[in-house]
Amino acid sequence: MTTLLLRRRTLVTAEILGVVEHGDERGRLLGFPTANLPIEPDAPIDDGVYAASVRWRHHVPHLAAVSIGTRPTVYAAGRRLVEVHLLDVTADLYGETLRVRLEALVRPQRRFPDLDALRGQLADDVAAVRRLLDTIAA
Ligand SMILES: Cc1cc2nc3c(=O)[nH]c(=O)nc-3n(C[C@H](O)[C@H](O)[C@H](O)COP(=O)(O)O)c2cc1C
Repeated sequence: MTTLLLRRRTLVTAEILGVVEHGDERGRLLGFPTANLPIEPDAPIDDGVYAASVRWRHHVPHLAAVSIGTRPTVYAAGRRLVEVHLLDVTADLYGETLRVRLEALVRPQRRFPDLDALRGQLADDVAAVRRLLDTIAA
């Protein structure tokens, strides 16, 4: 029943394919490193934070918290990006082609008052991604 509710309220299925480019390393300082992919400004998918599974080369799919948006906390008019934070693995993905399958919307993008507030939210996002993906898999 929970799964059905989730499906109605938050389930999305979209796949983004892209080559990882260099970020500005702030994610690592925040404790949430990301692999960044370009996305067209008008790509038909909403900005937000998503639960996702990510594949590259021969690897099995890995869970990830994915942010799509312009990072309004850091930039007044930032470039739209896909940022992939892998949950259970550390990997240098620069130059790799990632296949990012968005599974569920966690929340919209927001502007936080400072980086500490953003860091606290990112910890909550990771917990939410684990809960959502557990429920979908159940
Ligand atoms: C799961 C997740 C959620 C995020 N949510 C937001 C958000 O709501 N607002 C925002 O300004 N940035 C958000 N970000 C982007 C961070 O601002 C960004 O990852 C951080 O500043 C590091 O950027 P860098 O990797 O380009 O250095 C999110 C990133 C992740 C991984």
